[in-house]
Amino acid sequence: MEFSIKTSAPEKLRTDCLLVGIYEGRKLTDLAKALDAVSDKAISLALKSGDLEGKAGTTLMLRQVAGISAPRVLLVGLGKADAWSLKSLRTSVRGALKALPAGVQQVATDLAVLPIKKTPIKHSAAALAETVLEATYQVNAIKAQAAEPHPLQQVTVLVDKAAQSDAEAGLIQGQGLGLGVAYARDLGNLPPNICTPSYLGKQAEKLAKDYGFKVEVLEQAAIEKLQMGSFLGVTRGSEEPPRFIVLQHLHGKKSQKPVVLVGKGITFDTGGISLKPGADMDEMKYDMCGAASVLGVFKALGELKLPLNVVGLIPTCENMPSGRATKPGDILTSMSGQTIEVLNTDAEGRLILCDALTYAERFEPAAVIDIATLTGACVIALGHHVSGLFANNDALANALLAAGEQSGDRAWQMPLLDDYQPQLDSNFADMANIGGRAAGSITAACFLSRFAKNYDWAHLDIAGTAWKSGKEKGGTGRPVPLLLTYLLAQSAA
Ligand code: BES
Ligand code: MN
Ligand code: ZN
Repeated sequence: MEFSIKTSAPEKLRTDCLLVGIYEGRKLTDLAKALDAVSDKAISLALKSGDLEGKAGTTLMLRQVAGISAPRVLLVGLGKADAWSLKSLRTSVRGALKALPAGVQQVATDLAVLPIKKTPIKHSAAALAETVLEATYQVNAIKAQAAEPHPLQQVTVLVDKAAQSDAEAGLIQGQGLGLGVAYARDLGNLPPNICTPSYLGKQAEKLAKDYGFKVEVLEQAAIEKLQMGSFLGVTRGSEEPPRFIVLQHLHGKKSQKPVVLVGKGITFDTGGISLKPGADMDEMKYDMCGAASVLGVFKALGELKLPLNVVGLIPTCENMPSGRATKPGDILTSMSGQTIEVLNTDAEGRLILCDALTYAERFEPAAVIDIATLTGACVIALGHHVSGLFANNDALANALLAAGEQSGDRAWQMPLLDDYQPQLDSNFADMANIGGRAAGSITAACFLSRFAKNYDWAHLDIAGTAWKSGKEKGGTGRPVPLLLTYLLAQSAA
């Protein structure tokens, strides 16, 4: 996809289709007014017919409008003018792209520069570019007949001279983010016989080569040397060797403490000896979406060369049953020295994350954020619209919530109260790895908090948001937008 900026007269522009905004109540944007004036009121007459009210996401196609060079003008509903926001911008862009016929390879639009309250043009231009990439993403299916690429190839943003450089910067940012999101989606969608722990290790090495990151991919022996007994307890049942990935993007000041991102990388979760039921088990290939989001953020960081220090940590393995697998009742000694009674081998995410959280201490981090498809209970609590957010620091939680709002990739804070901690009590070890049926996503976060005492820490449970099921089955790339928006805010501060 190619993005560009034009400041020339829109009626003379040679493009396959102009996308022109109409607010609810048939109110014209400045671009719509200008085109209406040169086209003998073609736009207001079309609206008078009653075919478009202006609700966000609705559209009306006009063809061969006299006075306008582009062969198509797509009127795009924007919703109420006083409610125009990044959210309605995204809805409108998605609606417009859905309405494009197959012959449209180029579009030009004013949608990215319609003023939004308290929002710089840069943010709206970024949202436009990111949404275009998201909406034209094509699933990386593995079929004998390769899919046709999406027809849309060029997007031109129509702006005044004054807004040009801000809009340009926004488009670049949105593209960087869009590429990161698409990469995370691709990794999630890959089948688990291809996307193994060693495959993720190779992807990290490739990213490092392409963008100049520092990278280490630790193998079994190195993981043993670090005494990550909890992580090793999960990988025991699998024939696939584990990896522990350390990626570093060091573009901030030397004195600047890094943000550490930790991604759960279970490339397939059978549940282990506490075997999951068969229905929909294929979806447990998505149990590495935390890891994919870390790699997606790194792709965007590399594209955008953000002046920050960011470390990515990915413990990755399979969770399989076998004669060697960890059993309920086994006790593991974590890297921190704390012991864990494994009461359910299906609560494996926390077992690989806790050792990564201990490893994170060596970076003296400004903040540590882990991202994990951690609990089915989080899906019961919050559904598929927001990710669960837990944190031991309110400023960090608020910054992540704000980044979620801005990016349209929202999170919702859940209580991380000490009252829940006793649910993890064990008679035989420092803690159990499960806390009973009540508040399952909270007790999972409580477990992790015991390994994150020495720094500001947040945990994103993305079990409900990382992928979609059913007809639309596929990775979403969430929470790459939230995380990158948080990092952008850090680099601006
Ligand atoms: N990867 C799953 C969580 C999950 C399940 C995410 C379904 C999305 C959809 C995780 O490893 C798991 O199995 N968690 C258990 C924990 C339980 C045994 C305490 C769960 O949620 O059932
Ligand atoms: Mn599990
Ligand atoms: Zn899992």
